[in-house]
Parts: sequence; structure tokens; C-alpha cells
Amino acid sequence: MHTWGRCDVLLELSNLTAGYQSGPDILQELSLGIEADRSYCIIGPNGAGKSTLLKVVAGILTPRMGTVTLDGEEVGGLRPDELLAKGICFVPQDPSLFPKMSVRQNLTMGAFLESDKRVVEDRIGEVFSMFPILDEKAKQLAGTLSGGQQQMLLLGRALMIKPRLMMIDEPSLGLAPQAADQVFETINHLGSLGITVLLVEQSVERGLAVSDWAFVLDLGQLRFEGPSDEILADPRIGELYMGKAPEIE
Ligand SMILES: Nc1ncnc2c1ncn2[C@@H]1O[C@H](COP(=O)(O)OP(=O)(O)OP(=O)(O)O)[C@@H](O)[C@H]1O
Ligand SMILES: [Mg+2]
Repeated sequence: MHTWGRCDVLLELSNLTAGYQSGPDILQELSLGIEADRSYCIIGPNGAGKSTLLKVVAGILTPRMGTVTLDGEEVGGLRPDELLAKGICFVPQDPSLFPKMSVRQNLTMGAFLESDKRVVEDRIGEVFSMFPILDEKAKQLAGTLSGGQQQMLLLGRALMIKPRLMMIDEPSLGLAPQAADQVFETINHLGSLGITVLLVEQSVERGLAVSDWAFVLDLGQLRFEGPSDEILADPRIGELYMGKAPEIE
């Protein structure tokens, strides 16, 4: 069974409300907690606010109300680079590689907060041993990689800062099944590197398979949460979010 102690909460959102510019509240008094060294998946229909939640934690969007705490310290409203320095990294849904730079240069950019060149080289070596294909293509321009390889480079670049919390938005979007499998294998492996994963995934079965705990978001609110295997088996989830027909009594 799961042992969820309350002592090692890494990230806590409390009554968090957020939205864009002068628009309506997208997240509405949302509260949830994330413990260190676990992996989490957020599921929910299109427009539920999944990406918005990650953007608030990454500092791209400022909370309107409520708090975001990391190790008990309030971090809501800090800038993305300040949050990155605290070990919170965000791999967004839209492509953010530098297509005209080489694979190696993209990785180096990922470590822009690290001034010790030796450390940067060591980390590049670690990323290459995790993704041998990136080593092979080190000199190639990022824009010439396949979709799956670009997603690996995105994950590799995020790993360059040795993050504590890695938030990954829809990593399998647009990938061929085999490439998606490889990406999920990598995500599964992040836990053993001591990285807490917060994943948003459109492929619900896959997302739940690589996470310990799931949050179900709808209309900016937390509808359910629980161990991923239980959420997967929950008929309410099947009906509401996975397009399965409700069972007829
Ligand atoms: N930059 C933006 N400006 C204004 N409104 C936005 C912006 N981005 C998202 N929204 C709105 O916020 C709501 C939640 O969007 P969000 O992208 O967080 O949903 P999501 O759960 O990630 O959906 P999807 O599964 O489609 O990625 C939607 O109504 C969307 O139209
Ligand atoms: Mg989204």
C-alpha cells in the first residue's frame, strides 16, 4: 500500500485562483499537495486548466489568490528563472527548442544557471548516457531531429539543471506510438534519479501507467484524486474523461 506521510510535502497549492489578463478565473480555489520522489499525473478534459496550473507553478502566470509553497516557503509570483533556480522546471506543451542550434548547444543552454563549465560538461555526459541517440546526433541541428528525438532533447535539456520537480505538459502529443513509448520509459526512469514528476497527459491510460498518484481536474477545480491505478479503474473517470459509455444497470 501507499504510505503518504505529510512530512515530505514538496509543493503545496492552497486555494489557488488564477486566470489570464482581465479574463475569468480559470483555476478556482484549487488545493493540492505533492510529495517528494513521487510521480503525479494530472488528467481532465480539454480546457480544464491543466496547462494553466503548470504555468502558475512555473511562474509564467501569477496567482490571483491563494498560495504556492515549496518546502513550506511561499514561491507564488516568483519569476520563472527564480523558480528554475529553486529546482522547478517546466517542459511546455509547445515546442521550445532552439531549432537552428545543435543538440549539444541546446543542452548547454539548459544549464544557463550553472557557471562551472566542467559541471555543464558532466551533465551533458549524463544526458548522453541516458539518451545515446542525442550523443550520436550531438552536432546536428535540433530542428532536424524527429519528433521523438526532439522530445528527448527537451527532457534532456530540462535535466541539465538537476531539477527537483519536473513538470511535463503533454509529452506524447503528435508522436508516433514507438517514440511515445520511449518518452514514457524515460519519464518512468526520472523517479530513480530523485526527481518528482508532475505530468499532464492526454493519453490518460499512459499517463496513469507512469504515475503513482493522479489528480482529476475539471473546470479549474480538483474533482478527484487518488492512486493512479485506482483512478484508472474508477468508472466515474471512464465515463467523464475517457469517452467510455456509462454502464447500464
Ligand atoms: N493564453 C491564454 N489567454 C487566455 N485564455 C487562455 C490562455 N491559455 C488558456 N486559456 C484558457 O484557459 C482555459 C484552460 O486552458 P488550459 O490550456 O489550462 O487547459 P488544458 O486543461 O491544458 O487543456 P488542453 O487539454 O486542451 O491542453 C481555457 O478556457 C483556455 O481557453
Ligand atoms: Mg494543456
